[in-house]
Amino acid sequence: MIIDANAPGSINSAAQTLLGGELIGMPTETVYGLAADALNDQATLKIFTLKGRPVTHPLIAHVADIEGVEHFACDVPGFAKHLMNALWPGPLTLILHKVQGVAAACTANASTIALRCPSHPVAQALLKRCNSLGIWGLAAPSANRFGRVSPTSAEHVLEEFGETLMILDGGSCEVGIESTIVDCTRGAPVVLRPGILTLDQISIAAGEKAVSAADFEQSNQPSELSTPKSSGTLASHYAPFARLRLLSRDEITLNLQSLKDPDLRLGVWSLSLHQARQANPTNTNIVFKDMPCTALECAKALFAQLRAFDALGMSEIWVEKPPQTPEWAGITDRLQRAAHTGAEHR
Ligand code: TXA
Ligand code: MG
Repeated sequence: MIIDANAPGSINSAAQTLLGGELIGMPTETVYGLAADALNDQATLKIFTLKGRPVTHPLIAHVADIEGVEHFACDVPGFAKHLMNALWPGPLTLILHKVQGVAAACTANASTIALRCPSHPVAQALLKRCNSLGIWGLAAPSANRFGRVSPTSAEHVLEEFGETLMILDGGSCEVGIESTIVDCTRGAPVVLRPGILTLDQISIAAGEKAVSAADFEQSNQPSELSTPKSSGTLASHYAPFARLRLLSRDEITLNLQSLKDPDLRLGVWSLSLHQARQANPTNTNIVFKDMPCTALECAKALFAQLRAFDALGMSEIWVEKPPQTPEWAGITDRLQRAAHTGAEHR
């Protein structure tokens, strides 16, 4: 059931539900999360069951502020402190060494923990109320079934899990794609999952050069410690029901001009909509949608647009490849995974 987060008593009733060991849907500035008390293993395990997520894939624990970190992490390196000071609250998750023995379910028994302090006012109010009840963090993955498109509105969460889940409605998410994940346990900031923050922004905030996971692995011996599975880094993820194809502007034009199956239900999301439309102006089975031309606006619209094409019953979605600049890295990453037709989630 969706409840207005701004109505009197909503935050308290969500916090009481969490205190009772139950789950709630909560807004963050990136995507909606499916939350449980991070230090209550029984409650946290319910997240895995409801999502259909393997228990070996660790979750992010959300804290109200930097002080909250000490309940979960230790040996925090200087550059990680700089990152927190500069970019929290915000769309940034840090992998840190875990305080021994805590949050076993949330971390899939790993020795590290993913921590994030979200900036959304509803998430902040909820986390503060939770703190006052002795709940020091909320384990929350994106509130979607495993492998599916992340939710950016309360209605999307309702579509995923139905009326039995309490969902705090805090409006549409401002960022729209999941947080940037930076591993701070390898001696330098290593970006495991790109988001809306660029490598340069991370480097400046950290006071040290940040590298992508691929670049780090190329120049270093593989770690002896096993790296926990990162579901957002599986080749196939964030998938709509329709088959998604990532195509250049010219490929979209050519393919539309030579479309073999006139009955194909096709959604086209393009930065160059005029050109695309002209390539096949008469076929009423094609739905053309404008792709926002800035990375910030595009990220905000991305998951809702994929869901909207699914709701229209499209069997294919053609998306124009975004520009290959650092600002678009997070969007390109999500589109490539959504386009992957591997067997993992289909
Ligand atoms: O924006 C976000 O990050 C959203 C909102 C709700 O905060 N959450 C989110 O959670 O995207 P989820 O579970 O969909 O993605 C969390 C990612 C996964 O890829 C997981 O494997 C990775 O974080 N992760 C968690 N703990 C980790 C660890 N100790 N080491 C490496 N990766 C970890
Ligand atoms: Mg997710």
